[in-house]
Amino acid sequence: MTQATARAYPNIALVKYWGKADEALIIPVAGSMSMTLDDYATTTTVHLGEGTGASGDADALNLNGTELEPVDTAAQRVTAFLDIVRGIAAERGLDTATERARVTTVNEGPTAAGMASSASGFAALATAASAAYGLELNERDLSRLARRGSGSACRSVISRFAVWHAGDSDETSYAEEIAAPDLSMIAVTVASHAKKVSSRAGMRATAATSPFYRSWITSTEESLNEMVRACQDADFTRIGQITETHAMRMHAVINACEPPIRYLAPVSYQVFDAVAELRANGVEAYATADAGPNVVVISRPADAATVAEALAGYAENGRATILNPGPGAQLLGPEEATA
Ligand code: PMV
Repeated sequence: MTQATARAYPNIALVKYWGKADEALIIPVAGSMSMTLDDYATTTTVHLGEGTGASGDADALNLNGTELEPVDTAAQRVTAFLDIVRGIAAERGLDTATERARVTTVNEGPTAAGMASSASGFAALATAASAAYGLELNERDLSRLARRGSGSACRSVISRFAVWHAGDSDETSYAEEIAAPDLSMIAVTVASHAKKVSSRAGMRATAATSPFYRSWITSTEESLNEMVRACQDADFTRIGQITETHAMRMHAVINACEPPIRYLAPVSYQVFDAVAELRANGVEAYATADAGPNVVVISRPADAATVAEALAGYAENGRATILNPGPGAQLLGPEEATA
């Protein structure tokens, strides 16, 4: 039996990915930039061979201790992804190309925290599966592979800060590390019952019905160029300003869909207001939010505790969580691989 275990962490984008140029290959309409977190890991083991419980024509998936049926959406996404891995193994003439797998995955992050578990999930799966199937991929090729599972997963392969180059083909669309000044993220998981529209459905609706879609694409390209310059200059203030403006622009283009889509809840806007008030009082913090009501705030590491304390009251559990730059996806040795 061959097996490999990998761990990866979620990432939060400062310049967001919203829109696909190619749905099948997951090539985005514009590049993006993110920080990989140091908490909420996903640990995934991929076993091949006899005695794994994976039958002749189906892979087996255990998610957080629950055995999933092959018809389950999550299991189908994993099998579709493993088919890509098996396809690469076949191109290389590897015996593993016909093997079904047992995938065991554990998410440490509370699902309700709204931290992108699909990013950490597919980064960990790409890393473990490529090793189990004997592909020996370098970081760039791992990032390209993770992208096929979930776009933002290509950034979780990378340590600390990542730029995802949009590219225009499978070969040219990948993430790589970019140097940036140290910063902290303060996650505010708000109490909200907002109805969830998946990022896939939301992106489709935005491309099809939002009149601002073209300007969203060009302004994202500009924001990314400016963000890269701000990182090179280690200019925290500019990084923060671009982050907050860009987040509002993403929600604006989404709000303009027909019928409208709104991910932010009233309490999310209260957090954005509280962050503006912190700034007015001399604490530099800037807010962003993904496709949901939760808000993530960036600050200099030295201000993180002050920001977390100021925003704790908006959090569902009365606590805001401080996160820092974390490692990229990595294979674990047998002694660490307990998943
Ligand atoms: O990779 P997906 O399909 O989960 O899309 C992620 C989209 C956002 O989280 C909203 C933005 C981003 O760049 O992470």
